Amino acid sequence: MSSGKPAVRLALLGCGTVGSEVVRLLHDQAEDLTARIGAPLELVGIAVRRPGRRRGDLPVDPGLFTTDALGLVKRDDVDVVIEVVGGIEPSRTWLTEALGAGKSVVTANKALLAEDGATLHDAATRGDADLYYEASVAGAIPLLRPLRESLHGDRVTRVTGIVNGTTNFILSSMDATGAGFGEALEEATDLGYAEADPTADVEGFDAAAKAAILASLAFHTRVTAADVFREGMTGVTAADVASAKEMGCTIKLLCIAERGPDSTGQESVSVRVHPAMIPRSHPLASVGDAFNAVFVEAEAAGQLMFYGRGAGGTPTASAVLGDIVAAARNRLAGTRAPSESAYAHLPIRPIGEAVTRYHISLDVADRQGVLATVAGVFAKHEVSIATVRQSGRDEDATLVIVTHGAPDANLAATVEDLRSLDIVRSIASVLRVEGGV
Ligand code: NDP
Ligand code: HSE
Repeated sequence: MSSGKPAVRLALLGCGTVGSEVVRLLHDQAEDLTARIGAPLELVGIAVRRPGRRRGDLPVDPGLFTTDALGLVKRDDVDVVIEVVGGIEPSRTWLTEALGAGKSVVTANKALLAEDGATLHDAATRGDADLYYEASVAGAIPLLRPLRESLHGDRVTRVTGIVNGTTNFILSSMDATGAGFGEALEEATDLGYAEADPTADVEGFDAAAKAAILASLAFHTRVTAADVFREGMTGVTAADVASAKEMGCTIKLLCIAERGPDSTGQESVSVRVHPAMIPRSHPLASVGDAFNAVFVEAEAAGQLMFYGRGAGGTPTASAVLGDIVAAARNRLAGTRAPSESAYAHLPIRPIGEAVTRYHISLDVADRQGVLATVAGVFAKHEVSIATVRQSGRDEDATLVIVTHGAPDANLAATVEDLRSLDIVRSIASVLRVEGGV
């Protein structure tokens, strides 16, 4: 289809899992994309590390490949730079160069946005250029555009999400089969969900980067990965999962970003990633397999839920393509995407001030006065106990205590004191509890 208009010229940086699917969609949907944009899209170069690598039946001219990403970004015949390489450098240098020169940027690079999004946003402002990054959080799910545009008339109060597919697969499998973490991780690796080095996923780094991006957009405040409290899910045991089941709960790795007053009453932002028990009736509890879901609460809109595939080449490429179309349309219309909104400058509330609930499982000596002593430790730190379950084992007993909400620092101090009691043989697990259990 000929639109009569000159092509919008694209440079693709990276042609791996996501990049190769971007190439495929650009090829397969070329006619529709031209009709929707009003001009054709033309891929003018692809930067990769190994240009000679076999790339299957990728519908692309092999002459487009180069190892010189910076040279490609600087070319005069490039309008839009698409970055699907990942990592901090050299991606930051490429994108800063592109934005500063007024080129539109589409990126899926959550690590860079969470570590140093400010540099990219500043370069976009300097170059009066578009910076789109829908694919950086929750893959195919349209989530950043609603936060960045649709909800700009509202006041978002909380974002709670399952934003890592690998860990959701592992925890769903542990819940379904009773398997331990190691066994479930093995299954995730065999099925190609978990990478050879799964550290970024299971230790919560990937989710923390996404949490920072979500919090920045939701609360109009620059939040970086360093501002996010992070606890991975490697410590979740089959016993925790069984205990959660007994309480009508399941365990998920959650990212939680919320606004609220800090200890001095000042409006602030709290952002955390950790495993947590949630009731099976919670909308996030039924999110299984490697799916993602994000629950947004806003004052006027109320509760909103976004659900879908958060990873994988094709779903992620869908989000990248959406951004390419938006950037191309803006170029043709001579307009820009909404620029960064970080006017609120809200301070970050330390984890100690976050109000959470705990589920604590401890092995104690089963004798008179033990329960009272344990309860006294909770009272000393002003933590109110919601429920206690005891099961006896000869001279020992297992106590499972669930608290009411209290500042995380008080809960941590309670656990610390419990550890020092000689009647406490061991603390088998400590898990946060979210939702109305
Ligand atoms: P891959 O590792 O599959 O692909 C990376 C690509 O970048 C490869 O084509 C590689 O070249 C190229 N590359 C690496 N270093 C350089 C370099 N120095 N110069 C030029 N090219 C280079 O990554 P993914 O496609 O999985 O991820 C890309 C981005 O998308 C990351 O930011 C990731 O966080 C993000 N993302 C990924 C998702 C997923 O499900 N995979 C989901 C959401 C976001 P070569 O092919 O020659 O090795
Ligand atoms: N490793 C990530 C996940 C990829 O499992 O969700 C998508 O960002």
